[in-house]
Amino acid sequence: MTEADKGFSRRHIVIAVDGPAAAGKGTLSRRLAEHYGLHHLDTGLTYRATARALADRGLPLDDEALAAEVAATLDLSGLDRAVLSAHETGEAASRVAVMPAVRRALVEAQRRFALTPPGAVLDGRDIGTVVCPDALIKFYVTATPATRARRRHDEILANGGRADLAEILADIERRDARDTGRTDSPLRPAADAHLLDTTEMGIETAFEAARTLVDAALGR
Ligand code: C5P
Repeated sequence: MTEADKGFSRRHIVIAVDGPAAAGKGTLSRRLAEHYGLHHLDTGLTYRATARALADRGLPLDDEALAAEVAATLDLSGLDRAVLSAHETGEAASRVAVMPAVRRALVEAQRRFALTPPGAVLDGRDIGTVVCPDALIKFYVTATPATRARRRHDEILANGGRADLAEILADIERRDARDTGRTDSPLRPAADAHLLDTTEMGIETAFEAARTLVDAALGR
C-alpha cells in the first residue's frame, strides 16, 4: 500500500540523523528512508570520496583550495560505501572535513539533495545543526566507544576481514576527538534532536522508537 493509498498527505519530508562513527545511524537512516519512501544520503561518503579523489590523483590532503575544488565537482549519485569503506579513507575524510571551504562545497550539494522530492533522510555529523536545521525531525544516535568499536570489529570479521579491537577503539576515539573538537560544524546534538542511545537497545529497537517519533511529527 502506498502512502497516498493510506490517505497520508504528501509533503516534503527531511529527516536528520547525526552521531559518531559506528553508532548505527547508517542502518537506522536506510530503514527510515525505506519505510517512508524517501531518498537517503550518507554524507560521510561525500567527505570520504573527496579524500579518496585527492589521494587517487596524488594530491595533498591539506591544500584547502584544491580539496574544495575537488569537493565541488563530486557526483553524489556514484557514491558507494563498499568502495570507500577503508579505515584510512575514514581517517583521511575526517582530515579534509576540518576545512571550511570543503564543508561549504559539500553542504551545498547535500542541501540540493535534501530538496529532491519527496524528501530525504540525511545522516552525518552536522545535518541537524548546519545542513538541514529546519528538518521535520532530528535524531542523534550514539553508543559508548567500546560498543561502537565492537560492532565495527564484528562487521569486519563477518565480511571475512581481519581487525584488531584495540586499534579500532583507538581509531574511533581519535575520530570522535577530531569531529567534536573542530571549529567548523563540530559533532554535537542539535538542541531539538531526539537522543537514541543504541548501547543497550540495539538498532532494531532504535528504528521502532524513531518510527513512532516520526509518525507523531507527521501527525499520524
Ligand atoms: O560517517 P563516516 O565515518 O563515513 O564519516 C567520515 C568522516 O567524515 C567523519 O569522521 C567526519 O570527520 C566527516 N563527516 C563530517 N560531516 C558529516 C559526515 C562526515 O564531518 N556530515
